[in-house]
Amino acid sequence: MRKTIDTTVAILGAGPSGLMLSQLLHHAGIDSTIIERSSREHVLSRIRAGVLERGTVEAMHEAGCATRLEAERINHNGVILSFDGTRIDIPIKAITGHHVTVYGQTEITRDLLEACEDRGQPIYWNSPDAALGKLSSDHPIVAFTAKDGTPIELHARFIAGCDGFHGVSRRSIPTNEIVEFEREYPFGWMGVLVDEPPIADHVVYANHADGFALASMRSAQRSRYYVQSSPGESVDDWPMPRFWSEFKKRLGPLGESVIEGEPIEASIAPLRSYVTQNMQHGRLFLAGDAAHIVPPTGAKGLNLAIADVRRLARAIAAWNGGDEKPLTQYATQALARVWKIERFSWYLTTLMHQFSEHSSFEKQMQRAEFDYIASSEAAQTMIAENYVGLDF
Ligand code: APR
Ligand code: PHB
Repeated sequence: MRKTIDTTVAILGAGPSGLMLSQLLHHAGIDSTIIERSSREHVLSRIRAGVLERGTVEAMHEAGCATRLEAERINHNGVILSFDGTRIDIPIKAITGHHVTVYGQTEITRDLLEACEDRGQPIYWNSPDAALGKLSSDHPIVAFTAKDGTPIELHARFIAGCDGFHGVSRRSIPTNEIVEFEREYPFGWMGVLVDEPPIADHVVYANHADGFALASMRSAQRSRYYVQSSPGESVDDWPMPRFWSEFKKRLGPLGESVIEGEPIEASIAPLRSYVTQNMQHGRLFLAGDAAHIVPPTGAKGLNLAIADVRRLARAIAAWNGGDEKPLTQYATQALARVWKIERFSWYLTTLMHQFSEHSSFEKQMQRAEFDYIASSEAAQTMIAENYVGLDF
């Protein structure tokens, strides 16, 4: 028998976007129901980046989920760029007055999920068949099958598409209405997680003639390292001796302090920039990776997702109080910020990687840009204010 459930906001996806939205709505006195395609274990096991903007930290406080974050966070006052072994230390805190926070985004998901579960938030796991309907009416619906086989129809006032790049929400918008922008980069990132201390007090982005390398961290004892990989390569193409030798070489002198640990995780991720202009379709609102993807350079993916849902939660709270205007402005205002973050992620990606299609002229342009950053406070300010997070 089909079961009908009323909810104010039907949220597709229990990633950081969906969980944060549910938590912020709860604090505004608004109920929601989450439907997730995968299992709880799968959602908690995904390895993500590890740098939080101040706006994300603020959102964790607003969500009432900042206890562990406050206990374990590491504050970084700067970031290091390296080019063929020459480094620039950008003093983020001195320039902007703010620091960035190192705290695993996987931990953010766990903190949000535990807070949701502690207050009994309805979450339907292992439900991959959600279908969205009546999006243009005031009472949209989501039909899906619960894990125990019960068919459920959610009757909502809004649907929040927080179901990532491969989710069903964006695909529920008529294709002839979708406007999208995309750039695929001709390389990937091969990443490893090791239980060894980080090589520096700050995150290091390195451009070397043989490719990009990134040294990041999760804690004083756990490091996250990446190298640029070629298209089509898999983890098997990167046995650890090859990884360590490339990684250390690309970091220049900083590479000398690398301790070669046993990897506790290794994976390759592609790099892509993607934006859909359609962040709203009737009563469906898209947020996070469902609406846009940034390449990982700069660690903006989660931060951008959190900025979206913060805006959406406030707009739905305003609607609840009788003011519909913020909801009508959601897509336009969110998108304006999305494009700025897309620009910075693309800029840092373009500056720091080796592109097979680049001519010697473009290589010189990278070098000139780097020299300019080294000598210009204005250029460093641009990087620092984007890295720490643009105003929300
Ligand atoms: N129905 C329900 N859930 C779905 C469906 C579907 N049809 N399709 C996908 N999902 C779920 C996924 O299983 C996933 O758990 O939606 C969730 C989306 O989560 P993310 O992909 O993490 O997207 P988001 O929550 O927007 O997080 C954004 O965090 O760490 C960063 O790189 C990450 O940029 C990403 C960001
Ligand atoms: C990470 O810690 O995994 C990380 C840090 C900075 C980035 C990307 C990833 O720009």
